[in-house]
Amino acid sequence: MAAAWLKDAVFYEIYPQSFYDTNGDGIGDINGIIEKLDYVKGLGCNALWINPCFDSPFKDAGYDVRDYKKVAPRYGTNEDLYRLFEEAHKKGIRVLLDLVPGHTSEEHPWFRESQKVEKNEYTDRYIWTDFCFQGAQGLPYIGGESERSGTYILNFFKCQPALNYGFLNPTEPWQKSFRDPAAIATREAIKDVMRFWLSHGCDGFRVDMAPSLVKNDDEKKSGTSAIWRDVRRMLNCEFPDAAMVSEWSNPKLSLRAGYDCDFCLNEPGSGYSTLMRDYGNGEDHSYFKKDAGGNINRFLDQYLDWYEDTKDLGYISLLTCNHDTIRPRYNLDEAELKIAYAFLFTMPGVPFLYYGDEIGMRYLDVPTKEGGYYRTGSRTPMQWTAGKNAGFSEGKAEDLYLPVDASEDAPNVADEEKDPASLLNTVKEILALRHSQKDLQADAPLEVICTEPGCPFVYRRGTITLALNPTGAEVSLPLKDVTGEVLYKIGEGSAADGKLVLGAQSFVAFR
Ligand code: NOJ
Repeated sequence: MAAAWLKDAVFYEIYPQSFYDTNGDGIGDINGIIEKLDYVKGLGCNALWINPCFDSPFKDAGYDVRDYKKVAPRYGTNEDLYRLFEEAHKKGIRVLLDLVPGHTSEEHPWFRESQKVEKNEYTDRYIWTDFCFQGAQGLPYIGGESERSGTYILNFFKCQPALNYGFLNPTEPWQKSFRDPAAIATREAIKDVMRFWLSHGCDGFRVDMAPSLVKNDDEKKSGTSAIWRDVRRMLNCEFPDAAMVSEWSNPKLSLRAGYDCDFCLNEPGSGYSTLMRDYGNGEDHSYFKKDAGGNINRFLDQYLDWYEDTKDLGYISLLTCNHDTIRPRYNLDEAELKIAYAFLFTMPGVPFLYYGDEIGMRYLDVPTKEGGYYRTGSRTPMQWTAGKNAGFSEGKAEDLYLPVDASEDAPNVADEEKDPASLLNTVKEILALRHSQKDLQADAPLEVICTEPGCPFVYRRGTITLALNPTGAEVSLPLKDVTGEVLYKIGEGSAADGKLVLGAQSFVAFR
């Protein structure tokens, strides 16, 4: 069962290079995160997920780790990170690091050793074929880069060789079983990395590409799941409060493999993708886009199936966005975002807010950086003020990690703090509501009351009924048992005489 602190957790995802720069070099740093902890707390977030902040050549923004146990100098030192854990804990904020277990950088010393002809401790730390011209049974591979005669398997980009966790059913001499000592040694090495950071005060991990460990795994991911269950047993014994959140988007498997939470990802065809980003084929039918004719059932069909199957095992996480996804502000305006966030933050499970989404930061058209490609547009510096470099850095504009949003009306924290009706203040209010009501937290039940084809959605969490209408027209529903005191509302809404009336673009919480 998931760590108890997750029940009331709301995460804030920080892309460290773009959050807050305290030394003027144009790149965000750990001290910058420490300085902004009160801001995070003021939002109503009580947990952080920090994207990889470890030593790396940054060909994939740090998802190509060169040293798992060392903070990248551009972000500061290990001591800074330990201090972040301490300062965050003093304020009641937990900190998850990003664990990248499936691959390292091609510059990692393990890989350098593994490329050598002479056998050594790391010869089988990665997956190698037996011959320099040998294919890899459909898996992506590279040849011609090493003195060792063999090709090696990739897990993602060319710079990211796959670590060897073995194969479910080996069919070639070069394939090892996932129970082979070499595969077990990789698993132990990753546990060692986890122990290192947990014993220095971190509270757990967001796990990158969690289902990718065992190659030629079956549909149920039996091999990979066995490894995660083993990791979970270690955590239960040694760090029972630690949380594991998977990038998997298959809670039926991930939560059974020992994860506490699993993300819904914006994959084509996923239910989650229809909520805010259903514009892939030219027409926009996103549910939260006003009058786009969206239908909440396209989300619910998948979500409820997952939810019913896993509600006693752990949590499904709904995200505003992440560093791989186009910001929701790309196609939703402020009014639309308010209703979308009210929904995301009052559903079961543990929600995640991506830095800058709380002020409606835009997706920018910028050139690729560090392997970001289209994702780079969602990774630009946080906009704190209307001043120099949007208050992100005192450095020169040309030194910034990425350019800041230069538009006249670029949103920023300082201005939104002053405006009671801003998106930022709305986010604060919704999160305050969530924290004030046990029935709105991760494990309180969910009951769907009404999903009219016309668009409104009415749902119940324990004693609280929530009703939302993302369209531009008032709707009236004959719902007798929706009554009670209005705890919170966006727009207009009321329930009386057996009728629920929801104004255009409204959200109401009744008790
Ligand atoms: C998923 C991460 O979120 C993404 O940013 C990264 O490029 C790949 N995994 C590879 O690690």
